[in-house]
Amino acid sequence: MITRIEATNYRCLEKADIDFEEFTLLVGANGSGKTTLLGIPELFSDCFKSPSVSQAFILSQNDAPPRCSAFEELVFHGQGNYFSIALEAKIPQKIMESLTSSLSETAKKNSEEWWQFIRYEIRFEIVDNKLIVGTENLFLFPSNKKPERGIGRIYGDYALPKGWRSILMRGSNNVSGLRVETTKNAKTKNLEVANSLLALPKVKFESQPSWAFRQSYA
Ligand SMILES: Nc1ncnc2c1ncn2[C@@H]1O[C@H](COP(=O)(O)OP(=O)(O)OP(=O)(O)O)[C@@H](O)[C@H]1O
Ligand SMILES: [Mg+2]
Repeated sequence: MITRIEATNYRCLEKADIDFEEFTLLVGANGSGKTTLLGIPELFSDCFKSPSVSQAFILSQNDAPPRCSAFEELVFHGQGNYFSIALEAKIPQKIMESLTSSLSETAKKNSEEWWQFIRYEIRFEIVDNKLIVGTENLFLFPSNKKPERGIGRIYGDYALPKGWRSILMRGSNNVSGLRVETTKNAKTKNLEVANSLLALPKVKFESQPSWAFRQSYA
């Protein structure tokens, strides 16, 4: 279940972050950004499926009108050259239990320290009229070390908080690091991904042979 959606500098959302419970009522004036915010999970999905992230914005998806005709429209009041979005979700109990194999012995004994949530964040940048992926991170975190609220932080820009696990990390150099989540001392694999693409949809399931990255989206 999605537990939080964040957007910074995205369209009319200068800084928005909403926590979702099983029942959440979103109230706001016309044009305040409700539809923009609730469209973010679908935006992630479209970015995963598109051959380049820019196509998810500039081309029609699922018969809906394109999200923009120029990338500047995606940035809050057209100011600046980046925007970021993030999602958090609760991990199903069974998967959460399977992840305990990677925890320290003390954390294993305290279910509050088990990785109960996933956080996925992307910063898009507009460079030379192109939309590229600037930063992409995937973390696991426990219920007693939730991200700080109200600050719109991209956690990949900072040192990893204690008790978190970084699965996918990608900075401006376009080298992505991937660290499998079910092995305690797993080494980080460095892999290059074009800045027009997200790295996450290219990750194979760990159970597949040579699990690191798919060669293509096919
Ligand atoms: N880059 C941008 N900077 C600032 N505002 C923008 C930008 N792009 C779109 N907008 C504005 O965002 C608003 C659209 O917000 P949205 O449709 O999400 O609101 P809503 O809360 O769903 O409204 P409604 O109650 O009418 O459904 C429009 O007023 C539009 O002009
Ligand atoms: Mg609306």
